[in-house]
Amino acid sequence: MDNSMLMKNLSLVLSALCLAFGAQGVWAEGNGSTVTGAALYHTHCASCHGDTGRGDGMVGAALRTPPPDLTGLTQKNNGVFPEAMVSEFIDGTRDVIAHGPRAMPVWGLMFQNRETIHKIVEYVRGLQRG
Ligand code: HEC
Repeated sequence: MDNSMLMKNLSLVLSALCLAFGAQGVWAEGNGSTVTGAALYHTHCASCHGDTGRGDGMVGAALRTPPPDLTGLTQKNNGVFPEAMVSEFIDGTRDVIAHGPRAMPVWGLMFQNRETIHKIVEYVRGLQRG
């Protein structure tokens, strides 16, 4: 291997490290135990689904498919909060075009963390009416 190859490889390794540490920063911020479900919801969901989950967020108004009212999930599901379904919508297992592609939901890697997803799911449970 000549020197220029070596440099190329070195810079690849360095950029990979930067990426890894960059992502780590977001990870830590998004998953600290002090972050509440309410804060996560308001940062990542309310722009479309609205502050109280009724589907009346500012960004949502501009979407071709209006964001659904999240307060009626229990009602639609015969009185049982569809916990697994909600977490699958968040982690990208279930496709929602506006949430971004399955492999990379708009909120990125941080919502691949079960604890964070669980907090948001519990917050959405609390928004249910009736
Ligand atoms: C960019 C706007 C946008 C953001 C941000 C967003 N959503 Fe959505 N969401 C939508 C749209 C639009 C749909 C409906 C898509 C469809 O019906 O195909 C949807 C669908 C859903 C559904 C399915 C509801 C049903 O009745 O089937 C759930 C649950 C959901 N979102 C939860 C969340 C949560 C939790 C967050 C935050 C982590 C979030 N969404 C962030 C736009 C958004």
